[in-house]
Amino acid sequence: MLRQLHSDCCEVSTPAKLNLFLEVSARRPDGYHELETLMVTVNLFDTLRFTRAQSGEPTLRNHWCLTRQHHATSAMLPSGPDNLVLKAATLLQREAGVALGAHVDLFKRIPLAAGLAGGSSDAAATLVGLNRLWELGLSMSELRELGARLGSDVPFFLAEANAAVCRGRGEIIEPVRLATALHFVIVKPAAGLSTAQVFQSCHPAQTPKSAAELVRSLHRGDLGRAGTQLFNRLGTPAEKLCDQVAQLRDCFAELPVIGHLMSGSGTSYFGLCHNSQQARRLAGRLRSTHPGQVFAVQSCV
Ligand code: C5P
Repeated sequence: MLRQLHSDCCEVSTPAKLNLFLEVSARRPDGYHELETLMVTVNLFDTLRFTRAQSGEPTLRNHWCLTRQHHATSAMLPSGPDNLVLKAATLLQREAGVALGAHVDLFKRIPLAAGLAGGSSDAAATLVGLNRLWELGLSMSELRELGARLGSDVPFFLAEANAAVCRGRGEIIEPVRLATALHFVIVKPAAGLSTAQVFQSCHPAQTPKSAAELVRSLHRGDLGRAGTQLFNRLGTPAEKLCDQVAQLRDCFAELPVIGHLMSGSGTSYFGLCHNSQQARRLAGRLRSTHPGQVFAVQSCV
């Protein structure tokens, strides 16, 4: 969602994602894993504001964490060249041969190290925002190619699809149509996990499962069936690395949700709810019993 504020400034709001299915089928020679995942965007957004500078390296001028427990998360957010926003800006500036610079203000709501792809979403938003601010005219497919160099989840956020099955490293995208909006309650426990560490501890499947059945259920709007088809191969290694994930699984098993799962490489855990009222009610209940962050969200339309 891009808004031009004035000729020198634009703003992009960019969503978190949940993985409703994630299978790991092989370890690749390049160190990545071959996977099949179903991702949906949800209405938990970071906002990035881009202001044109006449020259120089792009800078991350300010970043604010707008959620509770923001002290813990902002301490973890790298503000130097390791920040994916700066990596994206520098990559675009170099590849497009741009002489202009930019200042970026980042308003973060998506928790870090959560399996919600906040960093990847921010990187995608940076490519979109600076493509406009610097008037480069690159196509979405050109931006996706650059995005894939920044991270496996980045191309999904440049696919103009609110749900998709992603394969390969994550960069081969097949959009999926959802029959109805999906409602979720998400808990991000205090602990986070490193994506690389979780993948390293994962044993690829001998006989990989497919997302096809789940996609069919969602296409038909059969949420009862979809709830039984949620699956994440990274759940077991994540539980071994982080007790809080296993505790959340046990906790969600007691809730009246349609289904529940860890998202991505964790540590966020979500329940698929019957409707928005139930998601909000459960969020209130979980906030009073769980340290960490709790969100009631729905799939983007
Ligand atoms: O691509 P991205 O930088 O987000 O990935 C972070 C880490 O997660 C990689 O360095 C790799 O260890 C692991 N990964 C993987 N296979 C994938 C995606 C990520 O092994 N398909």
